[in-house]
Amino acid sequence: MESSMMQKGQKLFHTITFGCQMNLNDSERLAGQLRTIDYEATDDIEQADLILINTCCVRESAEKKIYGRIGEMKRLKQVNPNLIIGVVGCMAQKDKDKILKKYPHVNLVMGTHNIHQLVELLGKIEEDREPVLAVWDQAERLAPDVPTVRKGQISAWVPIMYGCNNFCTYCIVPYVRGRERSRPLDSIIAEIRQLGSDGFKEITLLGQNVNSYGKDSDEGVDFADLLLAVDAIDSIARIRYMTSHPRDMNDKIINIIKNSKKICEHFHLPVQAGSDTILARMNRGYTTDYYRQLVSKIREAVPGASLTTDLIVGFPGETDKEFAETLSFIKEIGYDAAYTFLYSQRSGTPAAKYEEQVPLATKKLRLNQLMTVQNEISLAINKKLEGSIEQVLVEGPSKNDDKILMGRTRTNKIVLWEKTGQEMAGDLVNVQINTAQTWVLKGRLL
Ligand code: SAH
Ligand code: SF4
Ligand code: F3S
Repeated sequence: MESSMMQKGQKLFHTITFGCQMNLNDSERLAGQLRTIDYEATDDIEQADLILINTCCVRESAEKKIYGRIGEMKRLKQVNPNLIIGVVGCMAQKDKDKILKKYPHVNLVMGTHNIHQLVELLGKIEEDREPVLAVWDQAERLAPDVPTVRKGQISAWVPIMYGCNNFCTYCIVPYVRGRERSRPLDSIIAEIRQLGSDGFKEITLLGQNVNSYGKDSDEGVDFADLLLAVDAIDSIARIRYMTSHPRDMNDKIINIIKNSKKICEHFHLPVQAGSDTILARMNRGYTTDYYRQLVSKIREAVPGASLTTDLIVGFPGETDKEFAETLSFIKEIGYDAAYTFLYSQRSGTPAAKYEEQVPLATKKLRLNQLMTVQNEISLAINKKLEGSIEQVLVEGPSKNDDKILMGRTRTNKIVLWEKTGQEMAGDLVNVQINTAQTWVLKGRLL
């Protein structure tokens, strides 16, 4: 096999990935399929015979950026007319016809349910030289597993379910990713075992709503059962998962996390807003009171756990009073970190049709206020860690400096320290924190 990959005239591919972890994993599965037909990855886009743009459409800002990138590709196509350009993923699913019409230099539009067909579709393009559109409206069942070529060697993503049934009123994801489909327990466990024997130390179970795992299948296993099964795999040191919906987080799951040594003490529970009226209009299925109680339960069961969230500002009709409720809610909860977004109108979703869209200027003002408050909270929480000793999984050199290493605590905080000993990517080390900042902790290796 290896020798065939060294053939002369070997083809090169380049992927550009936008969006969430699910998309990053999809790109790894695109790479996996390309490996089977002897394509090799290249970082140099100018050299590529095939460019795949894996897209996101969750907010307009992402979409605009991606359309810009697709436009730029025209130049490369002029230089190399044999270049194959593919637009895949969520935006391809949503805007299939528009993309082909507006960008004649695109050869392939492939939706979220068609990812596994890449090899077959490329064959078709090479044969007929006609643009190919492969966008199934729905995935009737689970797509077959395809090989994966991972970016890292320490930490791996493992999809456990695809799609979402929640239909939060602002969100496009259920329309572009389809209904919930869970992977069978056996194939998830087999994949993780393999990752363990390949030397991976950390896995992140992926799904739009991981706590719904198993509800669509007749295997009779739920997310808690899955966590237990993964916890029993010796070779894996750390287990993470995303994203969990607050409504579906339950005592059984919390208990398993409490009793596990591997499942990390980090809860990402997107609250979206701290106002009951907005939560109802968002169709989130919980109230602030429910959420408060959930957080107390978690903090009691798993002391020292970190808590992060997602927040949207400027949801249609959001009043000053409702926004103030969100501000006081995040102060009350005290999140380690929050990902904050300007509400973006997604056509086809219920909220896009709501009257009283909030003006952009107001949204921006609120976002700034929210970020200022959250940054103060994050810093205050991190400051309390100064002097403490944290278990860190070494990921590798930091972005800007080879002598500085980067890793994460179990609570998912980034730690930087000066390389002193033999510590290598994949090691679990102890780092004493001496300086805490809003986004990173700095320390020294013990
Ligand atoms: N399934 C996950 C993630 C969905 S997308 C979850 O439910 O948490 C990630 C985040 O994008 C969401 O949590 C939400 O905060 C944000 N988001 C989704 N749709 C949005 C929109 N129309 N405008 C702004 N932010 C949005
Ligand atoms: Fe979107 Fe809500 Fe589903 Fe998350 S749970 S993907 S926010 S619809
Ligand atoms: Fe974006 Fe699709 Fe993920 S819309 S956030 S890439 S599921």
